[in-house]
Amino acid sequence: SRRVTVRDLAAAKRRGERWPMLTAYDAMTAAVFDEAGIPVLLVGDSMGNTALGYDSTVPVTLEQVTMLSAAVVRGTRRAMVVADLPFGSFQEGPRQALRSATHLVKEAGVGAVKLEGGERSADQIRLLVESGIPVMAHVGLTPQSVHAFGGHPVQGRGDEAAAQLLRDAKAVQDAGAFAVVLELVTAELAAEVTRGLAIPTVGIGAGPECDAQVLVWTDMAGMTDWPGGRSPRFVKQYGQLRAALGDAAKAFADDVVGGAYPAEEHSFH
Ligand code: KIV
Ligand code: NA
Repeated sequence: SRRVTVRDLAAAKRRGERWPMLTAYDAMTAAVFDEAGIPVLLVGDSMGNTALGYDSTVPVTLEQVTMLSAAVVRGTRRAMVVADLPFGSFQEGPRQALRSATHLVKEAGVGAVKLEGGERSADQIRLLVESGIPVMAHVGLTPQSVHAFGGHPVQGRGDEAAAQLLRDAKAVQDAGAFAVVLELVTAELAAEVTRGLAIPTVGIGAGPECDAQVLVWTDMAGMTDWPGGRSPRFVKQYGQLRAALGDAAKAFADDVVGGAYPAEEHSFH
C-alpha cells in the first residue's frame, strides 16, 4: 500500500472532501493514528511542549525533530508524514531552509515539511518546492513568534490584519505550498481564505469552513495537563487518556505494593 500524497490532498479539495490531521511524536502513537485512517500526521514542533517538557516550541532543534520524525515514519505505512522546520532552521533564508528540509527528508524519510510564515517565508517555500520537497505553510498565529506576539491572540481581527492574512495565504500558495495551516483565525476570515485558495486550508482554532482540521494529539485525546484544568476554546477532547493512564499506573502500583502482581500466571518455573 502506498502513502497519501500531495496529489491525493489536492483531489480531496476539488471533490470538497474534508480530512483530519493529528500530530505524532513517536512510532507507537503514530501507528495507532495510521491504523485509525488519519491521512496526514504532523511531527510538530509542539513536541517542545508535549514530548520534551519546554514551555514553548522555540527551543526545539532540527535534530530533535529529525529523531522523532524518523520514529513516526517507521511506525506508519499509509499516512503522509509532515515534519515541522523548527525555529532557527529556516529564518536565515532559502538555502538554510533547503539544508534543513533536505536533512529531514534524507535522515527521517518524511514526505513533506511545514514552516511558519506567509509573505516572509515565501522565498524559502519556493526553493524547497523547486527542489522537490512538498511544503505545508502555516499562517495566522505562528507559535515560534510567541515572544513577538506577546502570547496567543486570535489573528485576523480588524481590516488591516485581515488583509495581511489574505496576502500571506496567497503568497504561500503562489510560492508553491500544497496546503496551509490557519491557526487561531476568526471563522469568517478562515472561510474567506478557504474559498479564495486552490490549495487546502488546515484549520486549528479557525472555524468549521477549512478544508481540513488539525489538533495536537495530546489535546485531542485528553492527555494534556491544562493550567487550571481548562483547555482553550478550540480544543475538543475525544478521550480521557490522562485519567486512564494515571489510573493504570496507580492500579499497577497498588498491585506491586500489595503483592497482587505478579501472580502465579505471570511467573516462570
Ligand atoms: O507544532 C504543531 O503541532 C503545529 C500544529 C498545531 C499545526 O504546528
Ligand atoms: Na508547529
